[in-house]
Amino acid sequence: MIFEQVEVGDMQNFCYIIADEKSKEAAIVDAGWEPEKLLKTAKSKNLKIKYILLTHTHYDHINSLAKLFELTRAKILVHENDADSVENLGLPYGKLKDKNEINLGKLKIKVLHTPGHTPGSVCYLVENKLITGDTLFVEAVGRIDLPGGSKEELLDSLKKLSKLDGKIEICPGHDYGSRKNSTIDYEKKNNPFMRF
Ligand SMILES: [Fe+2]
Repeated sequence: MIFEQVEVGDMQNFCYIIADEKSKEAAIVDAGWEPEKLLKTAKSKNLKIKYILLTHTHYDHINSLAKLFELTRAKILVHENDADSVENLGLPYGKLKDKNEINLGKLKIKVLHTPGHTPGSVCYLVENKLITGDTLFVEAVGRIDLPGGSKEELLDSLKKLSKLDGKIEICPGHDYGSRKNSTIDYEKKNNPFMRF
């Protein structure tokens, strides 16, 4: 697997590039800023961008979605509960549900619906890496005070994540912690919202 964490914009956003090494089929996760920077990385590895996957649809994660779509013509996928924001941009897209699988060559990306930060927030699990968007950061969690946010739902989602294999690596949507990624076990020890 090819897996790249790319920091974009001024709000410490992380986008991700996931690709199957053999077929070079790739997905970009989130479209905050600097689409050219993402595509430059993808091009240097000869990747074919097949999907643009969204963890949720707050502005800092879809700000450059139209541009990225224009440059790649890749299929946009978003959870059905967050789809309105993409609809409003007038872009074509597909809807995701919990447990959907997205294929890149032989690589499988599994969708975990983790509402709370937004109603349609998802995490993407690929091999031992979990892209958590704004659901779970290193040592913190996403805000719940924005429209559609829910403390109860977020706690349920965090419980769901806490049951995953402890060695799974957390790849967050922002660089807000003391390190750029961690693990489920690390978060259970060091994140006050992950102690159940
Ligand atoms: Fe957000």
